[in-house]
Amino acid sequence: MVNFRGSSHSKSSSIFSRRSSPLSIMLYVFILFAFSIFIFILYSKDILEDEEKKSPSISEMKPKSEQLPDDILWDAPFSYGLRPCVKPSARYKGAQGYDRYMTVRSNGGLNQMRAGIADMVAVAHIMNATLVIPQLDKRSFWQDTSIFSDIFDEIHFIMTLQTDVRIVKELPKELESAPRARKHFSSWSGVSYYEEMTQIWKDYQILHVAKSDSRLANNDLPLDVQRLRCRAFYHALRFSPAIENLGKKLVERLQSRSERYIALHLRYEKDMLSFTGCTHGLTEAESEELRVMRENTNHWKIKNINATEQRIGGLCPLTPKEVGIFLQALGYPPSTLIYIAAGEIYGGNAHLSELTYRFPNVVYKETLASKGELKGFSNHASQSAALDYIISIESDVFIPSHSGNMARAVEGHRRFLGHRKTVTPDRRGLVALFDMLESGVQKEGSSFSHLVRKLHKNRQGGPRQREGAPSGVKGRARSRLEEHFYQNPYPECICGSKITVRWT
Ligand SMILES: *[C@@H]1O[C@H](CO)[C@@H](O)[C@H](O)[C@H]1NC(C)=O
Ligand SMILES: *[C@@H]1O[C@H](CO)[C@@H](O)[C@H](O)[C@H]1NC(C)=O
Repeated sequence: MVNFRGSSHSKSSSIFSRRSSPLSIMLYVFILFAFSIFIFILYSKDILEDEEKKSPSISEMKPKSEQLPDDILWDAPFSYGLRPCVKPSARYKGAQGYDRYMTVRSNGGLNQMRAGIADMVAVAHIMNATLVIPQLDKRSFWQDTSIFSDIFDEIHFIMTLQTDVRIVKELPKELESAPRARKHFSSWSGVSYYEEMTQIWKDYQILHVAKSDSRLANNDLPLDVQRLRCRAFYHALRFSPAIENLGKKLVERLQSRSERYIALHLRYEKDMLSFTGCTHGLTEAESEELRVMRENTNHWKIKNINATEQRIGGLCPLTPKEVGIFLQALGYPPSTLIYIAAGEIYGGNAHLSELTYRFPNVVYKETLASKGELKGFSNHASQSAALDYIISIESDVFIPSHSGNMARAVEGHRRFLGHRKTVTPDRRGLVALFDMLESGVQKEGSSFSHLVRKLHKNRQGGPRQREGAPSGVKGRARSRLEEHFYQNPYPECICGSKITVRWT
Protein backbone atom coordinates (compact mmCIF):
# COMPACT_ATOMS: atom_id res chain seq x y z
CA MET A 1 0.00 0.00 0.00
CA VAL A 2 2.69 2.48 1.05
CA ASN A 3 4.86 1.60 -1.92
CA PHE A 4 1.99 2.00 -4.29
CA ARG A 5 1.30 5.49 -2.98
CA GLY A 6 4.93 6.48 -3.17
CA SER A 7 5.33 5.43 -6.79
CA SER A 8 2.15 7.13 -7.92
CA HIS A 9 3.33 10.29 -6.22
CA SER A 10 6.71 10.34 -7.91
CA LYS A 11 5.02 9.67 -11.22
CA SER A 12 2.69 12.65 -10.90
CA SER A 13 5.52 14.97 -9.84
CA SER A 14 7.46 14.07 -12.96
CA ILE A 15 4.41 15.06 -14.99
CA PHE A 16 4.28 18.42 -13.19
CA SER A 17 7.84 19.23 -14.06
CA ARG A 18 6.89 19.48 -17.73
CA ARG A 19 5.34 22.63 -19.07
CA SER A 20 1.56 22.23 -19.13
CA SER A 21 -1.53 24.38 -19.72
CA PRO A 22 -3.52 25.56 -16.63
CA LEU A 23 -6.40 23.35 -17.72
CA SER A 24 -4.32 20.20 -17.81
CA ILE A 25 -2.75 21.15 -14.46
CA MET A 26 -6.25 21.44 -13.03
CA LEU A 27 -7.12 18.11 -14.54
CA TYR A 28 -4.04 16.54 -13.00
CA VAL A 29 -4.84 18.10 -9.64
CA PHE A 30 -8.35 16.74 -9.87
CA ILE A 31 -7.15 13.27 -10.80
CA LEU A 32 -4.63 13.36 -8.00
CA PHE A 33 -7.33 14.44 -5.59
CA ALA A 34 -9.71 11.70 -6.73
CA PHE A 35 -6.94 9.19 -6.47
CA SER A 36 -6.08 10.28 -2.93
CA ILE A 37 -9.70 9.82 -1.92
CA PHE A 38 -9.68 6.40 -3.50
CA ILE A 39 -6.53 5.47 -1.60
CA PHE A 40 -8.00 6.88 1.60
CA ILE A 41 -11.13 4.73 1.23
CA LEU A 42 -9.06 1.63 0.56
CA TYR A 43 -6.84 2.38 3.51
CA SER A 44 -9.63 3.14 5.95
CA LYS A 45 -11.35 -0.08 4.94
CA ASP A 46 -8.17 -1.85 6.00
CA ILE A 47 -8.20 -0.03 9.32
CA LEU A 48 -11.82 -1.03 9.74
CA GLU A 49 -10.95 -4.67 9.09
CA ASP A 50 -8.10 -4.42 11.59
CA GLU A 51 -10.50 -2.99 14.13
CA GLU A 52 -12.84 -5.87 13.46
CA LYS A 53 -10.02 -8.32 14.06
CA LYS A 54 -9.35 -6.61 17.36
CA SER A 55 -12.98 -6.70 18.46
CA PRO A 56 -13.23 -8.49 21.80
CA SER A 57 -15.00 -11.68 20.74
CA ILE A 58 -12.46 -12.54 18.07
CA SER A 59 -9.37 -11.39 19.90
CA GLU A 60 -10.34 -13.58 22.80
CA MET A 61 -10.14 -16.58 20.55
CA LYS A 62 -7.10 -15.53 18.59
CA PRO A 63 -4.83 -13.37 20.71
CA LYS A 64 -1.46 -12.14 19.59
CA SER A 65 1.22 -13.84 21.61
CA GLU A 66 4.66 -12.44 22.09
CA GLN A 67 7.34 -13.64 19.73
CA LEU A 68 10.01 -15.78 21.36
CA PRO A 69 13.49 -16.18 19.92
CA ASP A 70 13.97 -19.18 17.65
CA ASP A 71 16.42 -20.95 19.91
CA ILE A 72 13.89 -21.13 22.74
CA LEU A 73 11.23 -22.51 20.41
CA TRP A 74 13.32 -24.93 18.40
CA ASP A 75 16.76 -25.76 19.77
CA ALA A 76 17.42 -29.10 21.42
CA PRO A 77 18.01 -28.86 25.16
CA PHE A 78 21.64 -28.77 26.29
CA SER A 79 22.85 -32.35 26.48
CA TYR A 80 26.18 -32.10 28.31
CA GLY A 81 28.00 -34.05 25.60
CA LEU A 82 26.03 -37.21 26.31
CA ARG A 83 25.91 -39.81 23.56
CA PRO A 84 24.46 -43.24 22.82
CA CYS A 85 26.34 -46.21 24.28
CA VAL A 86 25.18 -49.72 23.48
CA LYS A 87 28.40 -51.74 23.44
CA PRO A 88 28.42 -54.79 25.70
CA SER A 89 30.90 -55.12 28.56
CA ALA A 90 34.06 -57.23 28.36
CA ARG A 91 32.49 -60.20 30.13
CA TYR A 92 29.41 -60.28 27.89
CA LYS A 93 28.80 -63.50 25.95
CA GLY A 94 26.37 -63.99 23.12
CA ALA A 95 23.83 -66.79 23.46
CA GLN A 96 24.08 -69.23 20.62
CA GLY A 97 21.70 -71.90 21.90
CA TYR A 98 20.93 -73.74 18.68
CA ASP A 99 18.82 -76.67 19.86
CA ARG A 100 16.10 -74.73 21.72
CA TYR A 101 13.66 -72.41 20.09
CA MET A 102 11.49 -69.56 21.21
CA THR A 103 8.47 -68.64 19.07
CA VAL A 104 6.64 -65.39 19.83
CA ARG A 105 3.29 -63.94 18.92
CA SER A 106 3.68 -60.21 19.10
CA ASN A 107 0.56 -58.30 20.05
CA GLY A 108 -0.68 -54.70 20.01
CA GLY A 109 -0.04 -51.73 17.78
CA LEU A 110 3.29 -50.97 16.13
CA ASN A 111 5.10 -49.50 19.12
CA GLN A 112 3.79 -52.02 21.59
CA MET A 113 5.09 -54.72 19.26
CA ARG A 114 8.48 -53.06 18.86
CA ALA A 115 9.05 -52.81 22.61
CA GLY A 116 7.78 -56.36 23.07
CA ILE A 117 10.04 -57.76 20.36
CA ALA A 118 13.13 -55.98 21.71
CA ASP A 119 12.35 -57.44 25.14
CA MET A 120 11.90 -60.93 23.69
CA VAL A 121 15.35 -60.65 22.10
CA ALA A 122 16.73 -60.07 25.59
CA VAL A 123 14.66 -62.95 26.99
CA ALA A 124 15.91 -65.33 24.28
CA HIS A 125 19.42 -64.25 25.24
CA ILE A 126 18.85 -64.86 28.94
CA MET A 127 17.27 -68.24 28.19
CA ASN A 128 19.95 -69.20 25.66
CA ALA A 129 17.39 -69.93 22.96
CA THR A 130 17.20 -69.40 19.23
CA LEU A 131 14.55 -66.80 18.48
CA VAL A 132 12.19 -67.48 15.59
CA ILE A 133 11.13 -64.28 13.76
CA PRO A 134 7.98 -63.19 15.66
CA GLN A 135 4.51 -63.49 14.23
CA LEU A 136 2.61 -60.23 14.30
CA ASP A 137 -0.84 -59.67 15.72
CA LYS A 138 -3.52 -59.71 13.06
CA ARG A 139 -6.57 -59.78 15.25
CA SER A 140 -6.25 -56.68 17.36
CA PHE A 141 -8.07 -53.41 16.91
CA TRP A 142 -5.33 -52.50 14.45
CA GLN A 143 -6.45 -55.13 11.94
CA ASP A 144 -3.22 -55.32 10.04
CA THR A 145 -2.27 -58.34 7.96
CA SER A 146 1.40 -57.32 7.73
CA ILE A 147 4.01 -59.91 8.52
CA PHE A 148 7.34 -59.12 10.18
CA SER A 149 9.22 -58.51 6.94
CA ASP A 150 6.53 -56.10 5.67
CA ILE A 151 7.30 -53.79 8.56
CA PHE A 152 10.89 -54.55 9.52
CA ASP A 153 14.07 -55.22 7.63
CA GLU A 154 14.30 -58.91 8.51
CA ILE A 155 17.85 -59.56 7.28
CA HIS A 156 19.11 -56.46 9.06
CA PHE A 157 17.39 -57.62 12.25
CA ILE A 158 19.04 -61.05 12.10
CA MET A 159 22.49 -59.73 11.16
CA THR A 160 22.59 -56.87 13.67
CA LEU A 161 21.94 -59.24 16.54
CA GLN A 162 23.98 -62.18 15.30
CA THR A 163 26.57 -61.93 18.06
CA ASP A 164 23.81 -61.63 20.70
CA VAL A 165 21.16 -64.17 19.82
CA ARG A 166 20.68 -66.70 17.07
CA ILE A 167 17.61 -65.70 15.05
CA VAL A 168 16.00 -67.82 12.32
CA LYS A 169 13.09 -67.16 9.97
CA GLU A 170 11.24 -70.38 10.76
CA LEU A 171 11.34 -73.40 12.98
CA PRO A 172 13.30 -76.26 11.41
CA LYS A 173 11.01 -78.63 9.49
CA GLU A 174 11.57 -81.57 11.85
CA LEU A 175 10.38 -79.50 14.84
CA GLU A 176 7.21 -78.12 13.32
CA SER A 177 5.00 -80.68 15.00
CA ALA A 178 7.06 -81.10 18.18
CA PRO A 179 5.28 -80.40 21.47
CA ARG A 180 5.65 -76.84 22.77
CA ALA A 181 5.57 -75.25 26.16
CA ARG A 182 3.16 -72.29 26.10
CA LYS A 183 3.73 -69.34 28.36
CA HIS A 184 2.32 -65.99 29.28
CA PHE A 185 5.31 -64.40 30.98
CA SER A 186 4.52 -62.36 34.00
CA SER A 187 5.11 -58.67 33.40
CA TRP A 188 8.03 -56.66 34.80
CA SER A 189 10.03 -59.76 35.65
CA GLY A 190 13.78 -59.66 36.10
CA VAL A 191 16.59 -62.00 35.11
CA SER A 192 16.04 -64.57 37.90
CA TYR A 193 12.48 -65.22 36.69
CA TYR A 194 13.72 -66.07 33.21
CA GLU A 195 16.65 -68.10 34.49
CA GLU A 196 14.18 -70.21 36.41
CA MET A 197 12.07 -70.48 33.28
CA THR A 198 14.94 -72.36 31.61
CA GLN A 199 13.69 -75.42 33.54
CA ILE A 200 11.27 -75.99 30.70
CA TRP A 201 14.20 -76.96 28.43
CA LYS A 202 14.33 -80.22 30.38
CA ASP A 203 10.96 -81.20 28.89
CA TYR A 204 10.59 -79.15 25.77
CA GLN A 205 12.63 -77.97 22.85
CA ILE A 206 10.21 -75.20 21.90
CA LEU A 207 8.81 -72.43 24.05
CA HIS A 208 5.87 -70.53 22.61
CA VAL A 209 5.30 -67.04 24.03
CA ALA A 210 1.64 -66.18 23.50
CA LYS A 211 1.98 -62.41 23.95
CA SER A 212 5.04 -60.24 23.65
CA ASP A 213 3.77 -57.41 25.80
CA SER A 214 4.70 -59.08 29.09
CA ARG A 215 7.51 -56.66 29.53
CA LEU A 216 10.87 -57.03 31.16
CA ALA A 217 11.44 -55.00 34.30
CA ASN A 218 12.42 -51.41 33.62
CA ASN A 219 15.10 -51.31 36.27
CA ASP A 220 17.59 -53.41 38.20
CA LEU A 221 18.62 -55.54 35.25
CA PRO A 222 22.29 -56.23 34.40
CA LEU A 223 23.81 -53.49 32.25
CA ASP A 224 24.46 -55.96 29.44
CA VAL A 225 20.78 -56.92 29.28
CA GLN A 226 19.72 -53.26 29.14
CA ARG A 227 22.21 -52.52 26.38
CA LEU A 228 21.02 -55.52 24.41
CA ARG A 229 17.48 -54.11 24.62
CA CYS A 230 18.84 -50.86 23.18
CA ARG A 231 20.72 -52.62 20.38
CA ALA A 232 17.52 -54.47 19.51
CA PHE A 233 15.20 -51.48 19.75
CA TYR A 234 17.34 -48.71 18.25
CA HIS A 235 19.58 -50.60 15.84
CA ALA A 236 18.10 -53.95 14.87
CA LEU A 237 14.41 -53.05 14.48
CA ARG A 238 14.89 -50.90 11.41
CA PHE A 239 11.85 -50.54 9.19
CA SER A 240 11.61 -52.29 5.84
CA PRO A 241 13.26 -50.50 2.87
CA ALA A 242 9.86 -49.49 1.42
CA ILE A 243 8.88 -47.75 4.66
CA GLU A 244 12.32 -46.20 5.29
CA ASN A 245 12.46 -44.80 1.75
CA LEU A 246 9.02 -43.21 1.79
CA GLY A 247 9.59 -41.94 5.34
CA LYS A 248 12.80 -40.25 4.23
CA LYS A 249 11.09 -38.68 1.22
CA LEU A 250 8.29 -37.26 3.36
CA VAL A 251 10.79 -35.79 5.83
CA GLU A 252 12.58 -34.10 2.91
CA ARG A 253 9.28 -32.70 1.65
CA LEU A 254 8.52 -31.25 5.06
CA GLN A 255 11.99 -29.73 5.26
CA SER A 256 11.59 -28.17 1.83
CA ARG A 257 8.30 -26.55 2.91
CA SER A 258 9.73 -24.98 6.00
CA GLU A 259 13.05 -24.72 7.75
CA ARG A 260 11.56 -26.43 10.79
CA TYR A 261 8.53 -28.46 11.70
CA ILE A 262 6.72 -29.83 14.72
CA ALA A 263 5.55 -33.42 14.70
CA LEU A 264 2.35 -33.52 16.72
CA HIS A 265 1.18 -36.93 17.86
CA LEU A 266 -2.48 -35.98 18.04
CA ARG A 267 -3.89 -39.03 19.74
CA TYR A 268 -7.46 -37.88 19.21
CA GLU A 269 -8.72 -41.07 17.69
CA LYS A 270 -12.00 -42.82 18.32
CA ASP A 271 -10.55 -45.84 20.13
CA MET A 272 -8.51 -43.69 22.49
CA LEU A 273 -11.41 -41.40 23.40
CA SER A 274 -13.72 -44.33 23.89
CA PHE A 275 -11.19 -46.26 25.96
CA THR A 276 -10.34 -43.32 28.22
CA GLY A 277 -13.93 -42.08 28.43
CA CYS A 278 -12.87 -38.54 27.63
CA THR A 279 -15.73 -36.51 26.20
CA HIS A 280 -14.75 -32.92 26.96
CA GLY A 281 -15.75 -30.67 24.07
CA LEU A 282 -17.74 -33.39 22.30
CA THR A 283 -21.43 -33.35 21.43
CA GLU A 284 -23.86 -35.58 23.28
CA ALA A 285 -24.26 -37.80 20.25
CA GLU A 286 -20.49 -38.24 20.01
CA SER A 287 -20.19 -39.02 23.72
CA GLU A 288 -22.92 -41.61 23.35
CA GLU A 289 -21.22 -43.20 20.34
CA LEU A 290 -17.99 -43.53 22.35
CA ARG A 291 -19.84 -45.00 25.33
CA VAL A 292 -21.47 -47.63 23.11
CA MET A 293 -18.11 -48.55 21.57
CA ARG A 294 -16.62 -49.00 25.04
CA GLU A 295 -19.61 -51.05 26.15
CA ASN A 296 -19.11 -53.37 23.16
CA THR A 297 -15.36 -53.81 23.38
CA ASN A 298 -14.95 -56.86 25.58
CA HIS A 299 -11.30 -56.56 26.45
CA TRP A 300 -11.71 -53.04 27.82
CA LYS A 301 -12.52 -53.81 31.41
CA ILE A 302 -13.58 -50.42 32.72
CA LYS A 303 -16.99 -49.38 31.42
CA ASN A 304 -18.23 -46.63 33.72
CA ILE A 305 -16.03 -43.59 33.47
CA ASN A 306 -16.64 -40.11 34.82
CA ALA A 307 -15.29 -37.90 32.05
CA THR A 308 -14.82 -34.91 34.34
CA GLU A 309 -12.71 -36.86 36.79
CA GLN A 310 -10.63 -38.36 33.99
CA ARG A 311 -9.91 -34.94 32.61
CA ILE A 312 -9.07 -33.28 35.93
CA GLY A 313 -6.75 -36.17 36.71
CA GLY A 314 -4.77 -35.41 33.54
CA LEU A 315 -5.74 -38.73 31.97
CA CYS A 316 -7.30 -37.40 28.77
CA PRO A 317 -5.60 -36.68 25.47
CA LEU A 318 -5.51 -32.96 24.76
CA THR A 319 -8.27 -31.94 22.34
CA PRO A 320 -7.29 -30.27 19.04
CA LYS A 321 -8.53 -26.98 20.48
CA GLU A 322 -6.43 -27.42 23.62
CA VAL A 323 -3.38 -28.29 21.54
CA GLY A 324 -3.87 -25.04 19.60
CA ILE A 325 -4.05 -22.96 22.77
CA PHE A 326 -1.03 -24.83 24.15
CA LEU A 327 1.20 -24.34 21.09
CA GLN A 328 0.27 -20.69 20.87
CA ALA A 329 1.01 -20.16 24.55
CA LEU A 330 4.39 -21.83 24.07
CA GLY A 331 5.07 -19.07 21.54
CA TYR A 332 4.93 -20.89 18.20
CA PRO A 333 3.84 -18.49 15.44
CA PRO A 334 0.68 -19.25 13.42
CA SER A 335 2.80 -20.02 10.34
CA THR A 336 4.49 -23.00 12.06
CA LEU A 337 4.52 -26.15 9.95
CA ILE A 338 2.86 -28.96 11.91
CA TYR A 339 2.88 -32.59 10.83
CA ILE A 340 0.05 -34.54 12.41
CA ALA A 341 1.18 -38.03 13.25
CA ALA A 342 -2.04 -39.92 13.87
CA GLY A 343 -4.70 -42.13 12.47
CA GLU A 344 -8.13 -40.73 11.75
CA ILE A 345 -8.99 -37.75 13.95
CA TYR A 346 -12.33 -38.28 15.67
CA GLY A 347 -15.02 -36.10 14.14
CA GLY A 348 -12.67 -35.13 11.30
CA ASN A 349 -12.56 -31.50 10.34
CA ALA A 350 -15.25 -30.51 12.83
CA HIS A 351 -12.71 -30.96 15.62
CA LEU A 352 -9.50 -30.47 13.69
CA SER A 353 -10.56 -27.01 12.58
CA GLU A 354 -10.28 -25.89 16.20
CA LEU A 355 -6.56 -26.40 15.79
CA THR A 356 -6.14 -25.35 12.16
CA TYR A 357 -7.72 -21.92 12.55
CA ARG A 358 -4.84 -21.03 14.84
CA PHE A 359 -2.25 -23.05 12.91
CA PRO A 360 -3.37 -23.32 9.28
CA ASN A 361 -0.08 -24.86 8.13
CA VAL A 362 -1.04 -28.39 9.16
CA VAL A 363 -0.14 -31.45 7.07
CA TYR A 364 -0.60 -35.22 7.24
CA LYS A 365 0.89 -38.03 5.28
CA GLU A 366 -2.16 -37.92 3.01
CA THR A 367 -1.33 -34.33 2.00
CA LEU A 368 2.42 -34.92 1.76
CA ALA A 369 2.42 -38.13 -0.24
CA SER A 370 0.59 -39.04 -3.42
CA LYS A 371 -2.17 -41.65 -3.47
CA GLY A 372 0.16 -43.94 -5.35
CA GLU A 373 2.91 -43.63 -2.77
CA LEU A 374 0.50 -44.46 0.06
CA LYS A 375 -1.22 -47.26 -1.80
CA GLY A 376 0.49 -50.12 0.02
CA PHE A 377 0.14 -48.36 3.37
CA SER A 378 -3.45 -47.30 3.72
CA ASN A 379 -4.83 -50.69 4.75
CA HIS A 380 -1.94 -51.40 7.07
CA ALA A 381 -2.19 -49.37 10.25
CA SER A 382 1.20 -50.55 11.51
CA GLN A 383 2.97 -49.53 8.32
CA SER A 384 1.32 -46.08 8.37
CA ALA A 385 2.30 -45.78 12.01
CA ALA A 386 5.89 -46.55 10.99
CA LEU A 387 5.86 -43.55 8.63
CA ASP A 388 4.59 -41.37 11.48
CA TYR A 389 7.34 -42.76 13.66
CA ILE A 390 10.11 -41.83 11.21
CA ILE A 391 8.71 -38.34 10.65
CA SER A 392 8.34 -37.83 14.40
CA ILE A 393 11.92 -38.92 15.11
CA GLU A 394 13.27 -36.53 12.49
CA SER A 395 11.15 -33.53 13.49
CA ASP A 396 12.67 -30.46 15.13
CA VAL A 397 10.16 -30.66 17.95
CA PHE A 398 7.98 -33.60 18.93
CA ILE A 399 4.82 -33.01 20.96
CA PRO A 400 2.55 -35.87 22.03
CA SER A 401 -1.01 -34.96 23.06
CA HIS A 402 -1.29 -38.11 25.17
CA SER A 403 1.04 -40.62 26.76
CA GLY A 404 1.09 -44.04 25.17
CA ASN A 405 3.35 -46.52 23.42
CA MET A 406 4.06 -44.25 20.45
CA ALA A 407 4.70 -41.15 22.55
CA ARG A 408 6.99 -43.07 24.89
CA ALA A 409 8.93 -44.80 22.12
CA VAL A 410 9.50 -41.60 20.14
CA GLU A 411 10.48 -39.61 23.22
CA GLY A 412 13.02 -42.25 24.26
CA HIS A 413 14.43 -42.60 20.75
CA ARG A 414 14.91 -38.84 20.52
CA ARG A 415 16.68 -38.85 23.88
CA PHE A 416 18.90 -41.67 22.62
CA LEU A 417 19.79 -39.81 19.43
CA GLY A 418 20.99 -36.72 21.31
CA HIS A 419 18.14 -35.32 23.36
CA ARG A 420 16.18 -33.88 20.49
CA LYS A 421 13.48 -31.56 21.73
CA THR A 422 10.31 -33.25 22.96
CA VAL A 423 7.74 -31.12 24.75
CA THR A 424 5.64 -33.35 26.98
CA PRO A 425 2.44 -31.60 28.01
CA ASP A 426 1.67 -31.55 31.72
CA ARG A 427 -1.93 -32.47 31.05
CA ARG A 428 -3.13 -32.21 34.61
CA GLY A 429 -1.60 -28.76 35.01
CA LEU A 430 -2.84 -27.63 31.61
CA VAL A 431 -6.41 -28.71 32.25
CA ALA A 432 -6.45 -26.51 35.35
CA LEU A 433 -5.23 -23.58 33.21
CA PHE A 434 -7.69 -24.29 30.38
CA ASP A 435 -10.53 -24.32 32.89
CA MET A 436 -9.40 -20.90 34.09
CA LEU A 437 -9.75 -19.67 30.50
CA GLU A 438 -13.18 -21.20 30.22
CA SER A 439 -14.42 -19.64 33.44
CA GLY A 440 -12.91 -16.29 32.48
CA VAL A 441 -10.48 -16.14 35.42
CA GLN A 442 -7.60 -16.09 32.93
CA LYS A 443 -7.33 -14.71 29.41
CA GLU A 444 -5.04 -15.89 26.69
CA GLY A 445 -2.09 -13.59 26.28
CA SER A 446 1.27 -13.02 27.81
CA SER A 447 0.48 -13.82 31.44
CA PHE A 448 -1.28 -17.06 30.44
CA SER A 449 1.62 -17.87 28.15
CA HIS A 450 4.02 -17.28 31.02
CA LEU A 451 2.15 -19.80 33.19
CA VAL A 452 2.16 -22.43 30.45
CA ARG A 453 5.86 -21.98 29.72
CA LYS A 454 6.76 -22.15 33.39
CA LEU A 455 4.83 -25.40 33.70
CA HIS A 456 6.89 -26.88 30.84
CA LYS A 457 10.29 -25.50 31.67
CA ASN A 458 11.59 -28.95 32.59
CA ARG A 459 9.54 -30.93 30.09
CA GLN A 460 11.62 -30.29 26.98
CA GLY A 461 13.29 -33.69 26.64
CA GLY A 462 16.56 -32.65 28.29
CA PRO A 463 18.85 -35.23 29.91
CA ARG A 464 17.82 -36.79 33.18
CA GLN A 465 17.85 -40.27 34.61
CA ARG A 466 14.84 -42.50 34.18
CA GLU A 467 12.35 -41.91 36.95
CA GLY A 468 11.24 -44.54 39.42
CA ALA A 469 7.71 -44.99 40.72
CA PRO A 470 6.27 -42.18 42.84
CA SER A 471 7.16 -42.66 46.48
CA GLY A 472 4.49 -44.35 48.54
CA VAL A 473 3.44 -46.77 45.78
CA LYS A 474 4.07 -50.34 46.85
CA GLY A 475 4.25 -53.79 45.32
CA ARG A 476 3.37 -54.68 41.75
CA ALA A 477 1.84 -51.29 41.05
CA ARG A 478 5.32 -49.79 41.30
CA SER A 479 6.58 -51.25 38.04
CA ARG A 480 3.65 -49.94 36.07
CA LEU A 481 4.18 -46.43 37.35
CA GLU A 482 7.91 -46.29 36.68
CA GLU A 483 9.10 -44.42 33.65
CA HIS A 484 9.40 -47.06 30.92
CA PHE A 485 12.82 -48.23 29.85
CA TYR A 486 12.33 -47.29 26.19
CA GLN A 487 10.95 -43.88 27.17
CA ASN A 488 14.25 -42.95 28.73
CA PRO A 489 17.18 -45.36 28.33
CA TYR A 490 19.39 -43.06 30.44
CA PRO A 491 21.67 -44.00 32.16
CA GLU A 492 22.26 -47.46 30.64
CA CYS A 493 22.35 -46.55 26.94
CA ILE A 494 23.18 -42.85 27.13
CA CYS A 495 26.56 -41.98 28.56
CA GLY A 496 28.97 -39.20 29.26
CA SER A 497 32.66 -40.13 29.19
CA LYS A 498 32.89 -40.50 32.99
CA ILE A 499 29.96 -42.87 33.21
CA THR A 500 31.37 -45.10 30.47
CA VAL A 501 34.70 -45.40 32.27
CA ARG A 502 32.99 -46.40 35.50
CA TRP A 503 30.91 -49.10 33.86
CA THR A 504 33.28 -50.87 31.50
C1 LIG B 1 23.69 -72.37 25.19
O1 LIG B 1 23.27 -73.49 24.47
C2 LIG B 1 24.31 -74.19 23.77
C3 LIG B 1 23.69 -75.37 23.06
O2 LIG B 1 22.66 -74.99 22.23
C4 LIG B 1 25.37 -74.66 24.71
O3 LIG B 1 26.45 -75.25 23.99
C5 LIG B 1 25.88 -73.49 25.54
O4 LIG B 1 26.78 -73.95 26.52
C6 LIG B 1 24.73 -72.78 26.22
N1 LIG B 1 25.22 -71.59 26.89
C7 LIG B 1 24.96 -71.35 28.17
C8 LIG B 1 25.56 -70.10 28.74
O5 LIG B 1 24.28 -72.08 28.85
C1 LIG C 1 -18.29 -36.75 37.88
O1 LIG C 1 -17.32 -36.23 38.76
C2 LIG C 1 -17.53 -34.87 39.09
C3 LIG C 1 -16.32 -34.39 39.89
O2 LIG C 1 -15.94 -35.32 40.85
C4 LIG C 1 -18.85 -34.72 39.81
O3 LIG C 1 -19.08 -33.36 40.14
C5 LIG C 1 -19.97 -35.25 38.94
O4 LIG C 1 -21.19 -35.21 39.61
C6 LIG C 1 -19.68 -36.65 38.46
N1 LIG C 1 -20.68 -37.02 37.47
C7 LIG C 1 -21.37 -38.13 37.51
C8 LIG C 1 -22.32 -38.37 36.42
O5 LIG C 1 -21.23 -38.93 38.42
